[in-house]
Amino acid sequence: MKKIIVLDFGSPTTQSIAREIRGLGVYSEIYPYNKFPENDPDVIGVILSDSPYSLNDPKAFKPDLSGIYGKYPIAGMNYGARYLADYAVGKTETERVNMQQYVGNIFFMAKKIEGENTHWNESVFWNPPITALLPHFCKFCGAEQNWTPALFIESTVQNLKEQLGNDKVVLGLSGGVDSSVVAVLLNKAIGKNLICIFVDQGLLRKGEFEKVLSDYQGLGLNVIGVDAKEKFYHELAGITDPEQKRKIIGKGFIDVFDEEASKLEGVKWLGQGTIYPDIIESVSVTGKTIKSHHNVGGLPEKMGLSLVEPLRQLFKDEVRKVGIEFGMPEHLIKRHPFPGPGLGIRILGDITPEKVRILQEADDIFISALRKCNLYDKVWQAGVILLPVQSVGITNDERTYEYAVALRAVNSIDAMTAKWVCLPYCFLAKVSNDIINNVKGVNRVVYDISSKPPATIEWE
Ligand code: XMP
Repeated sequence: MKKIIVLDFGSPTTQSIAREIRGLGVYSEIYPYNKFPENDPDVIGVILSDSPYSLNDPKAFKPDLSGIYGKYPIAGMNYGARYLADYAVGKTETERVNMQQYVGNIFFMAKKIEGENTHWNESVFWNPPITALLPHFCKFCGAEQNWTPALFIESTVQNLKEQLGNDKVVLGLSGGVDSSVVAVLLNKAIGKNLICIFVDQGLLRKGEFEKVLSDYQGLGLNVIGVDAKEKFYHELAGITDPEQKRKIIGKGFIDVFDEEASKLEGVKWLGQGTIYPDIIESVSVTGKTIKSHHNVGGLPEKMGLSLVEPLRQLFKDEVRKVGIEFGMPEHLIKRHPFPGPGLGIRILGDITPEKVRILQEADDIFISALRKCNLYDKVWQAGVILLPVQSVGITNDERTYEYAVALRAVNSIDAMTAKWVCLPYCFLAKVSNDIINNVKGVNRVVYDISSKPPATIEWE
């Protein structure tokens, strides 16, 4: 597939640019500023993205563009534009001088026009809205708008059929969007040769295990549901350190998954819901590239399986679009993100089955109310946190000494930053009443009005 490359110089703008281009139906990939894919015949254009450094900063990244400049249509965004102009000195002297004094959004485009009088067609745009420029650049590169969910499904299913043949694949489901979409894609390609495992570690939302299992069965998936609650409660008893809790839950999941998968015969592949942001080698301000993704605890090596990751090319919003194209139920596709360790990191301090029950009840009241009042889809992530605090209250003229819970609702794009949501007072009042009146063990409800940074979304 023809593609536009976005070179990363350490700014978060890089991902926005690549997402915008894909939103136009043109495929685009991100590479570190110094790792341009020179031998890829599908490249039709290059964008140099922004950077936290200015051009005059001694730490600024200044890669050799000789393999790119003059070979492809090339554009720059802010830092990228300045660097490009600087690089192209002699060709754009006036613009270069102007650009270096200018602070704002600059987009610079250069394309070699081949012919009898080969020449450079160059344009500079001052403070343009990125949304206006990218379509222009895509046209400039001669890009075709053929990057669509339907085409992705068609080509991926075809590739999966060729790659997997008659092999069996095992896949861990979490109830989240990514693993669910991977399951449906693999199911379409290899049908019953896909075996899914869905583990209840006792830290899911109320009724979630049963609901999600029945959704999966409704989608025609071959799913094994494993109730491992007791194992997890036993291993977590008395553990208060958040990182230790995370490790126990992560390792417990691998053990259960491994045990179930080893009962299956002839499995050669492990499916994973890895998505594009997990594998992009983004450039940090130190100039080093960071890879954030790690395979689940070395499972594939341990089990001697090869990995199949059909969503590796997709951003999160594209995964949702693929799910919608498949006609998957909206509540599976639009589900809020939910952490792998589940309620385990929303019960501050040690975990007991009773605390899980209290939190599940309170969380269910909050989430159901968000859905009922049409607020669920307006919030990026929501949940309840059980605090390790008991406080005095009065119920039926009797003094109580019970737990406090915190409601959390945030809006975000990528979880790197998040803003608390201004939920209506009357909504909060109703949820608080319902929790206090119906959840035995809770006599106080607070609303978390902290944004990230400096707070985080989860409390542990
Ligand atoms: P924080 O709390 O870091 O959360 O602002 C950002 C996003 O990551 C999720 N999160 C986790 N997800 N394992 C996960 O799979 C974890 O240990 C974990 N901790 C936080 C969190 O729910 C939010 O979406």
